[in-house]
Order: sequence, then C-alpha cells, then structure tokens
Amino acid sequence: MKHNLSSTILTSVLIFLTCSATITNAKDVGVESLSIEVREILTKEMLAIDSAMKEIVSANSSGDTEKVALIARQIKESFILKQGLTKHQKHELHSKLSSDFISQDKAFHYMAGMLEHAATNNKPELIGFYFLKLFEACSSCHQAYAKHRFTKFSNQSKVNEHTH
Ligand code: HEC
Repeated sequence: MKHNLSSTILTSVLIFLTCSATITNAKDVGVESLSIEVREILTKEMLAIDSAMKEIVSANSSGDTEKVALIARQIKESFILKQGLTKHQKHELHSKLSSDFISQDKAFHYMAGMLEHAATNNKPELIGFYFLKLFEACSSCHQAYAKHRFTKFSNQSKVNEHTH
C-alpha cells in the first residue's frame, strides 16, 4: 500500500513536470495566455482590419484610390506594437508570442503601408498585388496562431501552414 502511494505520487510529479515543460515551450498557444488588456487591443485591431479590408474592396471597385490609400493607412496605423502599449505590455507581447508571430504582424503592416503607397500613386496592378498580400496574410497567421478562434483551420492539412 505504502509502495503504491509513493509510486502514485511519483507519477503525479512526473506528469506535472512534463506538463509544465510543455507549457513553457509552447509559445504557439501564447495568444491565449495574453493578459485581458493586451488581448482586447489585439481583438480591436483585428475587427478594425476586418472591416477595413471590405471597405477597400468597395472603394477600389468605385475607382476611389484616395479612399483606398486612407483605409490602408488606417490598417498600417492599427499595428498593435505601435499602439499605446505600456513598456510592460510590449514586454508581455514579446515574451508570450513567438518571433514568427511578431514578424508576420510586422510584415502585414508593412504591406498595408505599401498598399497605401500604391493607391496614392494610382497604380492599379500594385494595389491588386498588395491587397492580395494582405488577403493571404490573414489566413496564414490565423492558421498558425488563431486555430482556437477559427476552428476550421484545424481540419486543414498542415501543408498550407506558413513556413519561414
Ligand atoms: C500576425 C497575425 C495575424 C494577422 C496577419 C491577422 N490576424 Fe486576425 N487574428 C489573429 C489572432 C491571433 C486572432 C485571435 C485573437 C484572440 O484569440 O484573442 C485573430 C482574430 C481575428 C478576428 C476575430 C476577432 C474576434 O472577434 O475575436 C478577426 C475578425 C480577424 N482576426 C480578422 C483578420 C483579417 C481580416 C486579417 C487580414 C486582413 C487578419 N485578421 C490578419 C492574428 C492575425
């Protein structure tokens, strides 16, 4: 009996150690571990870019490149790292999210800046090119980091997953 009890304790300790090691290494689940405040800012950014993308389609289809440029600039400026985050919150983002997530977010906002530029210069092919880049970035990042929110990505094969 005594022997059984100590082996149960030992097993529990081992399970606990294995789990905490997994949690420490699993930066991919980082989004869900963000503080409520930072997560709210991220959600706000996402909802803003979601409607901005739709507005771009309408503006571009009516030939209003000035409006496309304006909306693209708003996307660029919604950049989570540029918002009024405290030093502590910035540190939280960098420590809880993988560097790949940060670079995908940076690349996304860079593309928005390029779209603004293309629209300001009235270059239709480039507007299309950068819009497509933004379009692809949404699903690429969601597939890698937001499967908890967009569960349909869980059913897709890993072949499409963003790799660097
Ligand atoms: C760099 C990564 C990244 C990029 C790029 C990105 N997203 Fe997201 N998005 C996320 C993450 C992570 C979540 C889940 C946030 C959470 O669970 O708190 C999310 C959530 C969302 C949500 C759900 C918000 C809610 O109500 O919970 C919408 C809508 C969304 N994204 C739209 C978009 C669109 C549209 C694009 C492209 C134009 C895009 N996102 C690009 C990472 C990204």
